Amino acid sequence: MIDIHTHVLPGIDDGPKTLDESIELLKMFEARKVKRIIATSHITRNSPPISEYLKAYTELNIEKEKHNIQVDLVLGSEISLNEETVKRAEKNELITLGKSNYLLIELPLFGIYPVHINWIEKLKSYGYRLIIAHVERYEYLTNNLSKLDDLLERDLLVQMNANYLIEKKTRKHAKSLLSNGYVQYVASDSHNTKNRTPNLDEAYEIISQIFDNNTSQLLLRTNPNRTIENKSIERIYFKKEKIINQLFKRHLS
Ligand SMILES: [Fe+2]
Repeated sequence: MIDIHTHVLPGIDDGPKTLDESIELLKMFEARKVKRIIATSHITRNSPPISEYLKAYTELNIEKEKHNIQVDLVLGSEISLNEETVKRAEKNELITLGKSNYLLIELPLFGIYPVHINWIEKLKSYGYRLIIAHVERYEYLTNNLSKLDDLLERDLLVQMNANYLIEKKTRKHAKSLLSNGYVQYVASDSHNTKNRTPNLDEAYEIISQIFDNNTSQLLLRTNPNRTIENKSIERIYFKKEKIINQLFKRHLS
């Protein structure tokens, strides 16, 4: 599995504070069979300079080798959508997911307005492909799907946190978003080893139960891999897949 949304760099954001904490978190990824992760520390208005991200990434990679942890670490970031982000983009001062043109982006919590759409279109005009981080947080999108449709039609992609599927109270809604092709990635958004943990293995099982193994592979391996390789990602409607699968199984039985 490949996790495109994680907070593992030490001392950069609200993820691990120390190198030791980062190493413990990486060990947990390894134990949960995640082979590759993108370190997507927050970039907000008050964040440290980009050089600090590179430094923390290099330090963590060196320490990871010392501990012989078999998790491939790719540098990325989670960027808030604001005017400063657009200015950073103009100066080429953003951290994309690996060497790709994909950016993991946080939207405003309470609504999306024409100014945000302008920023989105500007970022796109610079060649970036945008992935909306943890879509479930934006009820103005997930409870008003025409707005989410509008963003998908603008070629934005969508990531959902594994927890939204794992928690029983939100699973039905998560399943509905997946079934209707609104989600191209499931990621952990893990911050620590206590309450925001690497939980892709649990998500993999649940997606396989609801849909099938191919769907888990697509969301947790193929799409993340294609993203790191800067290849295109398609929107897929799993509900139709499942109905076809069911008919096929019925035909066989
Ligand atoms: Fe995050």
